[in-house]
Amino acid sequence: MAYSHREIEKAASVLKQRLESLEDKRTILRAPELTGLYDQIKLLPAGKARADFGKEVNELKVELEKLVQELADNKTTKLPPIDVTAPFDTNTSPQNRPALLPAQFGTKHPLMSEMETVLDIFYRMGFTAVESREIDDDYHMFTSLNFPPDHPARDDFDTFITYEGLIAPAHTSIMQNRVLRSQKPPIRAVIPGRVFRNEDVDARHDHTFYQLEGVYIDEGINAGHLIATLKTFFSEYFQKDIKVKTQPFYFPFTEPSFEFAASCPFCDEKGCNICSYTGWIELLGCGMIHPNVLKEGGVDPKKYTGFAWGGGIERLVMIKYGIEDIRHFHSGNLKFLRQFK
Ligand code: DAH
Repeated sequence: MAYSHREIEKAASVLKQRLESLEDKRTILRAPELTGLYDQIKLLPAGKARADFGKEVNELKVELEKLVQELADNKTTKLPPIDVTAPFDTNTSPQNRPALLPAQFGTKHPLMSEMETVLDIFYRMGFTAVESREIDDDYHMFTSLNFPPDHPARDDFDTFITYEGLIAPAHTSIMQNRVLRSQKPPIRAVIPGRVFRNEDVDARHDHTFYQLEGVYIDEGINAGHLIATLKTFFSEYFQKDIKVKTQPFYFPFTEPSFEFAASCPFCDEKGCNICSYTGWIELLGCGMIHPNVLKEGGVDPKKYTGFAWGGGIERLVMIKYGIEDIRHFHSGNLKFLRQFK
């Protein structure tokens, strides 16, 4: 078969015309007019004519690829993303509204991206995550956690409760019994979740916030393991060596119970406005899991011991980024949110 320059020209014009109407532009590179030319190369006798024909077919392919790419680029610049928020007082009359802001993509909420950072550190320490829940009952909120009936400690958690007796969880400890029942020791679980308390709202307290619970159970576990685990976590989170200290406290579900504080990552105990000039920041409650809680979860307290902790996430994020008011998190204020990429 003779080498035919015209044949390539014909195919090129057909293909370029078709490209305009194609939905998926890339399919042009598999069109029979083009693949047919490639098939023909093989049929030509070896020699200069075959080499020239092959070269020309290849040039056509490269040209088509370039066109496909250009069309794809045009498509995205022609259709910019649309900002669906209303960055003005929606009660202003249309003629007084400012022009829409240039379109911007949304970003992850800082609480969610920090929660991911926190979980990643615990994953590296061998923990797995179990999600908490947002409606529960008296058994999981109190009874399974060794709160005796009518005990005043129940009043420490000012819970929202429905007429039917369902409870909006006031802490992620509601999951302890479920984790103990569904896993066999050794247990290493972290439990992120949203919790609710009937609190007076101010710069440091919100009625709705996030907690992270941790549960570690095995043979021969003691308070040293608890402190080492949390110290390692905080040093990793703040990317510096953090000192820690504990104070005795009371929770019905741990014995002994502690309040846990970390040295201020900003002033290294010298005192600054982040730590209210004390050098220390109280971060969470923790302790050795009470034998009654282990028993209630089906774990033999004679064989196993364990520790648990629970702490707020907002507090941690506020310290890390110097956020002065907890209410920013739920405000939906775009000026606040867009600072976090
Ligand atoms: N649930 C407690 C609270 O919200 C925090 C806590 C303390 C959790 C001790 C624990 C723990 O697991 O062992 O105040």
